[in-house]
Amino acid sequence: MKLNSAERALMNNPVRALVQRHYEAPLLRRLGGGCEGAEAIEIGCGRGVGTEIAMEVLGAKSVLALDLDAEMVDLARSRLARFGDRVVVRAGDACEIPAGDNSADVVFDFGIVHHIPDWRRAVSEVARVLRPGGTFYFEEVTRHALERWAYRRFLAHPEFDRFDARQFVAAVEDAGIEVGGRWVTRIFGDFFIGAGKAN
Ligand SMILES: C[S@@+](CC[C@H](N)C(=O)[O-])C[C@H]1O[C@@H](n2cnc3c(N)ncnc32)[C@H](O)[C@@H]1O
Repeated sequence: MKLNSAERALMNNPVRALVQRHYEAPLLRRLGGGCEGAEAIEIGCGRGVGTEIAMEVLGAKSVLALDLDAEMVDLARSRLARFGDRVVVRAGDACEIPAGDNSADVVFDFGIVHHIPDWRRAVSEVARVLRPGGTFYFEEVTRHALERWAYRRFLAHPEFDRFDARQFVAAVEDAGIEVGGRWVTRIFGDFFIGAGKAN
């Protein structure tokens, strides 16, 4: 699902970018290690901040950045142009990642999978494209958050088959990506962050 205007404003603002860079990226590194020299994919790249962090903070060599929304793709293209051909931004669905089997060292999910009605399919796509030993970094929003008044009133999300952290981690592990204890919840269980390694 594309974002509505309220969530677009929530996502595309400097406070979120600062939190991603200075809080989430170090936490992802602690949970999953860095990704120096990695060929990475970011699903649902939005305006491109996650890809910037993958390149500048976590050390990826290249990123294929995908988003369903053409406006987001344009924003990300402008933001990431300085990386030249190390970053390719294109329209793409996380449920049909345009990459081969076992072709990526790393996949990033910065708050996108909870937007996907068939989210288990996106998880299986992540598992398909990751090489054995590759890392899936995720930052997600739980159904507890999506059930809160403000989320229901102002934001638009799939209504059914929402997940909590344990359900998400279980689906990731069922798809062949081992997470174990490498995940944490934050803000009364509304968010969780973690990393898994592909078998
Ligand atoms: C909450 S925003 C997060 C954007 C960005 N990752 C960030 O952290 O700022 C979710 C993004 O996922 C995109 N999206 C939603 N469903 C998608 C899908 N099936 N495949 C690819 N992108 C999708 C939306 O267009 C939106 O840009």
